[in-house]
Amino acid sequence: MPQYEKILLKNMETSGYTGSLADYEHAGGYQALRKVLGKIAPAEVTELVKKSGLRGRGGAGFPTGVKWGFLPKEYQGPKYLCCNADESEPGTFKDRQLMERDPHQMLEGILIACYAIGAETAYIYIRGEFALGARIVERALTEARAAGYIGRNILGTGVTIEIWLHRGAGAYICGEETALLESVEGKRGLPRVKPPFPATHGLYNKPTVVNNVETLANLPYIITRGPEWFASIGSPPKSTGTRIFCVSGHVKLPGNYEVPMGMTFRELIYEHAGGMRSDKPLKAIIPGGASAAFFTEQHLDVKMDFESVAQAGSMLGSGGVTVMEEGTNMVWAALKLMEFFNHESCGKCSPCREGSPWLVQTMRRIVAKRGRMEDLETLTDLCKNIAGRTVCAFGDAEVAPIMSTLLHWRHEYEELIREAEVTHPKELAMAAVRH
Ligand SMILES: Cc1cc2nc3c(=O)[nH]c(=O)nc-3n(C[C@H](O)[C@H](O)[C@H](O)COP(=O)(O)O)c2cc1C
Repeated sequence: MPQYEKILLKNMETSGYTGSLADYEHAGGYQALRKVLGKIAPAEVTELVKKSGLRGRGGAGFPTGVKWGFLPKEYQGPKYLCCNADESEPGTFKDRQLMERDPHQMLEGILIACYAIGAETAYIYIRGEFALGARIVERALTEARAAGYIGRNILGTGVTIEIWLHRGAGAYICGEETALLESVEGKRGLPRVKPPFPATHGLYNKPTVVNNVETLANLPYIITRGPEWFASIGSPPKSTGTRIFCVSGHVKLPGNYEVPMGMTFRELIYEHAGGMRSDKPLKAIIPGGASAAFFTEQHLDVKMDFESVAQAGSMLGSGGVTVMEEGTNMVWAALKLMEFFNHESCGKCSPCREGSPWLVQTMRRIVAKRGRMEDLETLTDLCKNIAGRTVCAFGDAEVAPIMSTLLHWRHEYEELIREAEVTHPKELAMAAVRH
């Protein structure tokens, strides 16, 4: 198996590394901050990040430097950075590891981003369930403050940056950037209509950048080792750097794997994650968190970069790769995801609020062998009326499991319905009359 240089997991995989400030500094930590503060102009830092090709690791894959460039240049008032540590996507568990095992890496990234965009205040919005992570990040913040990396006049450069930790209350929707902003403001986490975008009207209506933990953690290395080095890793020019893929499901070695983008699913699953746990053939892959359309074993040789996965009909999303073996009922699998989305629908937009329970009800009926063939049309119709018709991308996300399982495994839906016709003929006949 080829060996790859790790960037973000390297420190924590070194024997004896605790993630303390002393360990991080010993590994070269905060050198990037020393290199930029007062020495490289903020606009130039943004240019370096653009040159590196870094794209967001939170889900949408938007180019990071370009996003920073959208902030109004002449604006004199306060600007904010929000670090999205909500990690609410099922199957995704990388930000948690980054925060628990190497919190200063993320903090240095936040400080560099704040300097580049001219923000004096940053909020880390951490998922409510990450109680341990919150304690570790708080301790790291205290250490970094005491060492002069956070606060007023950082390292004597005259730069002021304060970072606050904000714990969420456990809602998936608060990972969506504008719902996150509402939540930090103390309101119920409901997504905002865009435009205006956070770049101009973000936190407290001020120019704001929201970036994911993993995105920010890459910044110190882009500064110390140069954007060209970063841009040479992965699948340049559009998918540069490494990704931490969170492999879960029916594999022998589930866990986080940091590999260059562009590796195939086959290599990740069979060489890194040890292959299938029971040596049954692979049946399905969720390539990028629960919001991503399912792949089949036919997609094993698709490259894990933004373009290749999109061309194959799904998305790299949050990097959560869930593997399912032969024997898994795909209608049941889609139902489990749909139950999650139904529970988490925030209720703001009617197609999602009304459509989600309807989808769950219909799916449950099919799985319970009480479905009818017309249900498949109802499911398709509902999905089409939700996708693209909601304020945020939640609507598109929740229909992906159903649409993709209907595409690849429609026969499994039909088999369950045919069994229903045998098991409950009277009931179905009555339902047809009522219909
Ligand atoms: C329903 C929903 C949930 C999301 N959850 C997360 C999340 O938990 N963490 C995250 O970083 N991004 C999440 N996102 C994406 C964010 O809205 C945003 O694009 C991201 O934080 C931007 O950071 P990046 O450019 O560094 O990726 C979610 C998006 C949607 C629509």
